[in-house]
Amino acid sequence: MTQSIAPHGGTLVNRVIPDGEKEAALQKASGLKQINVNAWTISDLDLIAVGAFSPLIGFMNQRDYNSVVETMRLADGTVWSIPITFALEASIAAIIQPGESIALVGEEDGITYAIMDVSDKFTVDQKNEAVKVFKTDDTDHPGVQKLLSRSSTYLGGSIHLVNRPKPKKFEEFYFDPSETRRLFAEKGWRTVVGFQTRNPVHRAHEYIQKSAMEIVDALFLNPLVGETKSDDISADVRMKSYLVLLENYYPKNRVFLGVFPAAMRYAGPREAIFHAMVRKNYGCTHFIVGRDHAGVGDYYGTYEAQEIFSNFTAEEIGITPLFFEHSFFCTKCGNMASSKTCPHDSSAHMHLSGTKVRALLRNGECPPPEFTRPEVAEVLIDGMKEPEYQV
Ligand code: ADX
Repeated sequence: MTQSIAPHGGTLVNRVIPDGEKEAALQKASGLKQINVNAWTISDLDLIAVGAFSPLIGFMNQRDYNSVVETMRLADGTVWSIPITFALEASIAAIIQPGESIALVGEEDGITYAIMDVSDKFTVDQKNEAVKVFKTDDTDHPGVQKLLSRSSTYLGGSIHLVNRPKPKKFEEFYFDPSETRRLFAEKGWRTVVGFQTRNPVHRAHEYIQKSAMEIVDALFLNPLVGETKSDDISADVRMKSYLVLLENYYPKNRVFLGVFPAAMRYAGPREAIFHAMVRKNYGCTHFIVGRDHAGVGDYYGTYEAQEIFSNFTAEEIGITPLFFEHSFFCTKCGNMASSKTCPHDSSAHMHLSGTKVRALLRNGECPPPEFTRPEVAEVLIDGMKEPEYQV
């Protein structure tokens, strides 16, 4: 078996209570204050527990939070760009004291997900957090909106996961970092490039993935399937589109599809760093960062998510980022290209806005094959018939 890349911080965190200790943990949890948590927090709990967020072992305490917001590092200096926090209504937080343990219970299903050892209770300046993390406090920004809709009282402390959240669909594509690490090693892949996406894979995505595949052993297609903004295409439809694309256009022995069950933050540059660290924990040695990675609207410059990596040394980051220019189909070149490889002006380049593509799909029309593979377009057209897209 090949040697895996070291997890971020050096050790792959495991905070999942083993089966043999589960009964006792549930017994203990039943005697604690029962605090309701939403789907986003449950997703964070799970990702912390399985080591996807290594080296985090819980929700950030005040020192780590302040350090991350101000310097993109944990208090001990380890690179970390996005606060992972637990916000709780002040009136509920008032009954919890640092030093006590609480049970975290799903607000919709009543399942006890975790026990948290609360070490810190603190109030934050969310506008400052917004400006530092999202580079704006504009409430039209979906990440800022989400942040400001939460309480500004945060609880910090380590967690132990008692029950895993159950995937509603596509369960066979859920892998923990320890599993992907083992599988990559078993396949003999020494270099694996991670690809984050919250969209269907169009030709530009395919082009940069395959360009990367020319220089590494394999591709880990790792679509984010946690909470996204309402006008993003649903994870269900996207999963179908990935499967049909892989079936028809990718070599089976060099691609691995597994979901990333995290919420999308839309934090652009800072999220690119976060996405890279997490993919390192899944065992990737390389990570693709293209144009406006994890961006939304016009909040970030086209290449800001690449430039941010220059704040850190290669050793601090650990995983190798692969930067790609804005890619497009050039009608004169007759293939996919970027300004690095194509001499023609933009009149020869095929550009379709997301709005335009959605309009085509909604009318049952396929975007041109230079933009999207016809098999993918078909899945998307079908998906668009779902009531949630009929606006
Ligand atoms: S993201 O929010 O998950 O980053 P998306 O799924 O669109 O959005 O992008 C996935 C990856 O592909 C990101 O690294 C992004 O920068 C890159 N990307 C998307 N479109 C292009 C393009 N036309 N040219 C180059 N890179 C692109």
